Amino acid sequence: MTMPRPWWQTGVVYQIYPRSFADADGDGIGDLAGIRRHLDHLVWLGVDALWLSPFYRSPMRDFGYDVADHCDVDPLFGSLADAERLIDDAHARGLRVLIDFVPNHTSDQHPWFQESRADRTNPRRAWYVWRDPRPDGGPPNNWRAAFSDVPAWTLDPRTGQYYLHCFLPEQPDLDWSHPPVVQAMHDVLRFWLARYVDGFRIDVAHLIGKDPALADVPAPVAGLPQVVLNDRPETHALLRALRSLVDGYPGDRMTVGEIYLLETERVASYYGRDDELHLAFNFPPLYAPWTADAWRQQLASAAATLDPKGAWPTWVLSNHDNKRHRTRYGGDERRARAAAVLLLTMRGTPFLFQGEELGLEDAHVDAAARRDPGGRDGARAPMPWERAAPHGWTGAQPWLPFPPDAAAGSVEQLQSDPTSILHLYRRLLGLRRALPALHAGAQVPLAAPDGVVAFERSEGSSRVAVFVNYTEEPITLRHTPGTLLASSVTIHETTPSFAGVLAPYEAVVVHLAT
Ligand code: GLC
Repeated sequence: MTMPRPWWQTGVVYQIYPRSFADADGDGIGDLAGIRRHLDHLVWLGVDALWLSPFYRSPMRDFGYDVADHCDVDPLFGSLADAERLIDDAHARGLRVLIDFVPNHTSDQHPWFQESRADRTNPRRAWYVWRDPRPDGGPPNNWRAAFSDVPAWTLDPRTGQYYLHCFLPEQPDLDWSHPPVVQAMHDVLRFWLARYVDGFRIDVAHLIGKDPALADVPAPVAGLPQVVLNDRPETHALLRALRSLVDGYPGDRMTVGEIYLLETERVASYYGRDDELHLAFNFPPLYAPWTADAWRQQLASAAATLDPKGAWPTWVLSNHDNKRHRTRYGGDERRARAAAVLLLTMRGTPFLFQGEELGLEDAHVDAAARRDPGGRDGARAPMPWERAAPHGWTGAQPWLPFPPDAAAGSVEQLQSDPTSILHLYRRLLGLRRALPALHAGAQVPLAAPDGVVAFERSEGSSRVAVFVNYTEEPITLRHTPGTLLASSVTIHETTPSFAGVLAPYEAVVVHLAT
């Protein structure tokens, strides 16, 4: 008998970026009460869990990824009581809740850093990474920060030392080699586990262990930020400790780590021997172009590197850090629909980003409206709920402009059209939940013509095939096996047999006879 798989393997996670999801208090910035009002959208859609990007107290230099208090909610988003209500309301609807845990750095306004920078003898000095300047007065090593190509070190004139920050200068890195830091961050996890969160998305999880020597990185890669280079043995021990803490709580709690190392093989190492991360984001597919060759390779590389370790894959096409996939794939809705079929039928846990079920494209954000130091505003545009402007955002103008065609892409409009991409997502999520072959089964590649990716999913006697036409031409498949469960072009509620011809950019799910 096989053990049933945990929810975080069979389920689908929906990422909410709280600033841009829904605004209940009318200040133009989304909030926790806004999320609570729209939980029924997620239930109707058919996802299993939501992941909330940070809602903690923060000066918002990196929109919440600069945390000033890990155990309180920023007043912009509500209160701790609102967070507890949101968790309860989600659970009451059968939705799991993941929250963002940001371990690598804090805000420079966090009391820990304020004390740390006060003077060299402060007991919190060792909580962050402080070093003397080089003899020439320059930064201690050649590491670069993310977002802009500047040194990952800032000189604090008051104490004459540099501090490390792999992101903005307002995001100093914690020193995880200092045991009190580990204890304090474990306490943060305990605080939220006691409030019944189902798990954590761990921000840049691979970054917390650092080279103790803080050595220069080799010259040829010196222009890359440290966040895409840091791959250290120290991190694995730290993650094992996090894992055993989380596993000590009842109810299938879990972690999914952001591993910004752009090789699936490296990502795989962060699952450990099933004693580090439960799941790790694998970003190479997110950066792959929309071509059959590229995707065949991505599927093969996930199978070759993760399967032998028993590591369960994850799939992400869009998130708050990258252009939306519809935009990356050239804007054509047919490609976004085919991508939905692919994302929701591959073996592994899919992560959806709010608004991808609407087929949203990035907003055009002109220079004057830009807010993010990392240039990621376009994907973070507000969700259009209603057809009529301001699309369910009452009160003040939302903090960013809406995506293009917000009326046509609104939840209200797309719900009223049974052929819309929104209904396609819902149908696919329903199929995935209903069929063990899709949510739990094995996956093997199938032979297919050029321009098509095909694979079979199976569990017991249930067998499903998926065909994705990446080209602008119709393609005839060699065999025409079985009944059609879903198509990205026509959303079939019945189950006609599949004629064996894929329309341009069509993806289909076919039930194979046993
Ligand atoms: C992660 C987050 C990103 C943030 C960065 C620093 O990559 O996804 O939004 O800016 O970490 O915390």
